[in-house]
Amino acid sequence: MAFDLQRARQETPGCAHVLHFNNAGSSLPSQAVLDATVDYLREEARIGGYEMVEKSRDALQHTHEAAARLLGCSPTEIALTESATQAWNMAFYALSFQPGDRILTSIAEYGSNYLCYLQRAQKLGVSIEPIPNDEHGQISIAALRQMIDERVKLIAITHVPTNGGLVNPAVEVGKVAREHKILYLLVACQSVGQMPINVETIGCDILSATGRKYLRGPRGTGFLYVRSSILDQLEPLMLDMNAATWLAPDRYELNPGMARFESFEGHMAGRVALGVAIDYALQWGLDVIWRRIRDLSYALRTHLSPMPGVIVHDRGVTQCGIVTFTVEGKDPGEIKQALAQQQINVSVTGRNGALLDMDERGLTSMVRASVHYYNSEEEIARFCGEIEKLI
Ligand SMILES: Cc1ncc(COP(=O)(O)O)c(C=O)c1O
Repeated sequence: MAFDLQRARQETPGCAHVLHFNNAGSSLPSQAVLDATVDYLREEARIGGYEMVEKSRDALQHTHEAAARLLGCSPTEIALTESATQAWNMAFYALSFQPGDRILTSIAEYGSNYLCYLQRAQKLGVSIEPIPNDEHGQISIAALRQMIDERVKLIAITHVPTNGGLVNPAVEVGKVAREHKILYLLVACQSVGQMPINVETIGCDILSATGRKYLRGPRGTGFLYVRSSILDQLEPLMLDMNAATWLAPDRYELNPGMARFESFEGHMAGRVALGVAIDYALQWGLDVIWRRIRDLSYALRTHLSPMPGVIVHDRGVTQCGIVTFTVEGKDPGEIKQALAQQQINVSVTGRNGALLDMDERGLTSMVRASVHYYNSEEEIARFCGEIEKLI
């Protein structure tokens, strides 16, 4: 069946104003997500913030259920957070490590996560070890197997990095983690909403995701999955009264379930609207979305690659909607600005976002053009026309 592009664009108000190739930054929300956010805020202003949370109990619960349906887990394995980073931090800092423990990670690991590894390495004496890439530029499963020993306490990788179309082989990594009963943490921030993700198929124990990227949810939203069988091992570093109960002057108890990762205060309008965004993605179907995104990004790469001076940098056997490139003699920031003057949105991906990977490839920054299913073939042609004018 042909993809209903007209419907996708009609239901995305921003399509009338911008050519948006910054979906890996923050995608354009659907009208339904916009309405859910604004309706919540209006009603909150009318009846009061706490009262609105009471009134929205079912909607807030629904967001847990929608996230669970999206990931193939139970709603009791989901906590709503204010970002993917917060979700990841809550889980990572809840793990206990001993000096000498090893954490295996990806070359394409996200900057914020790596800062936390470095901090743990300095404070606790754990060893942080990037798994080498294979000849396609993705995690080498053979190398991962060789690195495993009894001191490996965690495999923590980024599925789709901030800086390119690479899709790391999350399922294969999961197989190794399961075989050796090693905890497996997956950053699915850039992949959730873009492609089908199932935590059972992948075999991860912890997964972090954001709302604003490929799910087209509001900014300031994210969520965390923790496999129920490992929950009791995790005590968050930071607690509030939603996470724990103060029983006596010298005693507290962690609350059961995922409440320990979900703060009392939060972006409630966003949490409700995130549920709407997930429902909306599920209505389109993640298989349909994924096929459409791959087709569009393939077309974009195919048009850009032969242009003189243009180098497309994406790696991996499977490539997603994030297209990264440089133009000889041009600063990526200049290209972004020139495009912005034509109402074309892209972003610039720099060294800090994925330093190991950028250094390994000798790159300092690239233009990042990330497509979503509501982008059109005409937009790709227009975009490439503008790049041709700039080279
Ligand atoms: C791989 C990866 N992980 C995590 C994040 C952070 O997401 P958030 O801003 O929702 O915390 C990003 C954002 O670009 C990312 O690319």
